[in-house]
Amino acid sequence: MTAQQRIYSRIAGTGSALPKRVVTNDELAQRVDTSDEWITARTGIRQRYVAGEGETTVSLARDAAIQAMDAAGVGPGDIDMIVLGTTTPNLIFPSSACLLQAELGIVGCPAFDVNAACSGFIYAMTVADKFIRTGDAKTVLVVGSETLTRMIDWSDRGTCVLFGDGAGAAVLRADADTGILSTHLHADGSKKELLWNPVGVSEGFKPEEENAGVRVLMTGNDVFKHAVKALDSVVEETLEANGLDRHDIDWLIPHQANLRIIEATAKRLDMPMDRVVVTVDQHGNTSSGSVPLALDFAVRSGKVQRGQLLLLEAFGGGFTWGSVLLRY
Ligand code: ACO
Repeated sequence: MTAQQRIYSRIAGTGSALPKRVVTNDELAQRVDTSDEWITARTGIRQRYVAGEGETTVSLARDAAIQAMDAAGVGPGDIDMIVLGTTTPNLIFPSSACLLQAELGIVGCPAFDVNAACSGFIYAMTVADKFIRTGDAKTVLVVGSETLTRMIDWSDRGTCVLFGDGAGAAVLRADADTGILSTHLHADGSKKELLWNPVGVSEGFKPEEENAGVRVLMTGNDVFKHAVKALDSVVEETLEANGLDRHDIDWLIPHQANLRIIEATAKRLDMPMDRVVVTVDQHGNTSSGSVPLALDFAVRSGKVQRGQLLLLEAFGGGFTWGSVLLRY
């Protein structure tokens, strides 16, 4: 290899995992004042998967990782780094990445979590890509896994209809052939109260206060506006950085929070919806799990083909947002 030859991170295999239990909109309508019509019209969500006993962020991550490693043709001994995007870790520590490492029988390689809420997988892919491009890692397991329903207020119709649980994984390998072309990350911590879970270790658990309890709080329509604007801008930034026209993208693989947000980004790209991977109807918003779940669905269903140009993007609590442009 010449000194000038660039190393790329290529997706060698993908995998995903969902809990066993499906909860439909009609089932939720029996618990809170909502309806299948409202949820479908406002979000595109028809059902979501909810983790049951024994199903955790780490167990879902493990099942997705095993599938991705099988697809990539690599074993535990080949993995030299694990990056796990999650905002619902099994424990405060050790990190879920370390727990996953143990489940996979891997010892010694670095393993750490990335908490960027719904942008977790995009952030994790970006970190992995940097390690591969500098030559510090050759085969990286990147996972997005969540059990968000464990911190949902099931009496709040504004949030409980939106979220689901699940995990997706990708094995990234160093390659001379084109893979990840660019990554773009952003954050704005000044709007935290629009989408947050105000419980923590250092600020303390304050059971006596209003809004206490481990639960997601969201001002949905404000988040919606910020999401559309931020995603528009990161899509433009990605195209410009790569000297691409919006019509060059083969597939948009967006964060699956709301079909209306996805449609707005597709419109910006002048992309017909049949070139946009949509799983929000089946999975709801699985936060960090959403993009890799959609990616794995697109790969396994034969939609995405080798050599095609994919644009992955996400927006979430923080706020955080970002994109990954790659040749599959
Ligand atoms: N069923 C029936 N009515 C409802 C429900 C429900 N489940 N939820 C809210 N409503 C009512 C509201 O009370 C309100 O009633 P009112 O007009 O009488 O006051 C009305 O519906 C409209 O409420 P809005 O919040 O304005 O509805 P909107 O069209 O904005 O849709 C939604 C709400 C779906 C939450 C949307 O705003 C959204 O998707 N926001 C973005 C979510 C997102 O992208 N999050 C980022 C990632 S999440 C993460 O990072 C963890």
